[in-house]
Amino acid sequence: MRSPLETRRDTGQPEPRPWKPSAVAELTAARARLSRMLEGLPEDALTRQHSPLMSPIVWDVAHLANYEEQWLLRALGAPALTDSAFDALYDAFRHPRASRSQLPLLTPEQAFAYAARVREASLEWLQQLPEDSPAPLLRGGFVFGMVAQHEQQHLETLAATLQLMTSHEYRPAALARPRPARAAQHEVFLPGGPVRLGSDAPWAYDNERPAHSVHVPDFLLDSHPVTNGDFAVFVDSGGYTDSRWWDPQGFAWIQSQGIRHPLFWLPQQGGTWLRRRFGWVEPLPKDEPVQHVCWYEADAYARWAGKRLPTEAEWEKAATGSDGRPRVYPWGDAAPDAGHANLGGDTWGPSPIGGYPAGQSVDGVWGLLGDVWEWTSSTFDGYFGFKSFPYREYSEVFFGTEYRVLRGGAWASAPVAVRNSFRNWDYPIRRQIFAGFRCARDAR
Ligand code: AVJ
Ligand code: FE
Repeated sequence: MRSPLETRRDTGQPEPRPWKPSAVAELTAARARLSRMLEGLPEDALTRQHSPLMSPIVWDVAHLANYEEQWLLRALGAPALTDSAFDALYDAFRHPRASRSQLPLLTPEQAFAYAARVREASLEWLQQLPEDSPAPLLRGGFVFGMVAQHEQQHLETLAATLQLMTSHEYRPAALARPRPARAAQHEVFLPGGPVRLGSDAPWAYDNERPAHSVHVPDFLLDSHPVTNGDFAVFVDSGGYTDSRWWDPQGFAWIQSQGIRHPLFWLPQQGGTWLRRRFGWVEPLPKDEPVQHVCWYEADAYARWAGKRLPTEAEWEKAATGSDGRPRVYPWGDAAPDAGHANLGGDTWGPSPIGGYPAGQSVDGVWGLLGDVWEWTSSTFDGYFGFKSFPYREYSEVFFGTEYRVLRGGAWASAPVAVRNSFRNWDYPIRRQIFAGFRCARDAR
């Protein structure tokens, strides 16, 4: 299927094309994933607070339903369903995650019924809407893309909640992952010059707009993300106790928390590492990208290795390609399939590096999309000419120096929510997200 994210080769301009089939397919795919993920979980697992960092699962379910009610029904003039009864309860800005289990939340049964009722109404309302409306919310089906991406983002958040959960054993059926091609880490030279950042595609977020050009000097970028095996050398050689490698605030943080290795690693007698992945404890796979490291850990490793994290402009240049042609994905404009990247959540973990030759960039940088989010050195800000749309709380309220930008998406990210221009952000101390990194270096 062609996605509305595709752009015309000849002009680089979005080509108006019917968006309803993609809207229906993406909303349906998200809901099917929600059912797969939560199937069979007992009531207690759905309502309990598994971590102060995360909402009770049932909050996310009702929140994504309420978001859809607000944007696909009320904002589009559909007949009222609940008359905004749940808006305050499921407003992420009104209640911190850690206190959400104390709220008078819908029960799991009620939350699933609410989500189903909203979905039925929004798919029905979609049929009434014109394909070619010039209204900003509807242009190219924007608001449907926004709601589908939002639901998938919350499913990734739920995957992080399920990984943190220790009260119940979660053992989803993991898909077989591709065997790696022979992959060796090396540095790829990316020549300096202008790079087109961002996107004006119909389903791009406000923080990706407007597409614009910046100059990036020559640099070297690792061909693959840093692996568990690479990272274990840093850990085993005392990297966590040597302040030379660390940002001072990061060093104070890991010391105060007693952090000595990535989250979910378990030290074993005899000096080998295990890791817990959902309900499994397994030997740490050396050839997978390291995940569950915070920005401070990534930054420290890079300094120890004599390198640094890439800026987000460098990352996007590597993803788009040094030949200057606009590309939605590193391999071109074709929607991601199972041969391009580890995306969509059903593998339940990163793949060994080198498994996706079809996903490499034109310059030979591998694994940019999928597997793990990649921390960059950049703080999160609006591009020049940024205009908040359609609400300030998606992006704008997070602009500033507190957050670092992550790029590329993880195994738990859906294809609809991943592209070269997509920007994610989090605090530099966060480790429960599916984040890793790759290193860069000045070319001098
Ligand atoms: C873009 C992943 C940082 O999960 O906080 C979900 C996405 N925005 N609901 C988040 C989001 C509103 C957001 N991130
Ligand atoms: Fe949300």
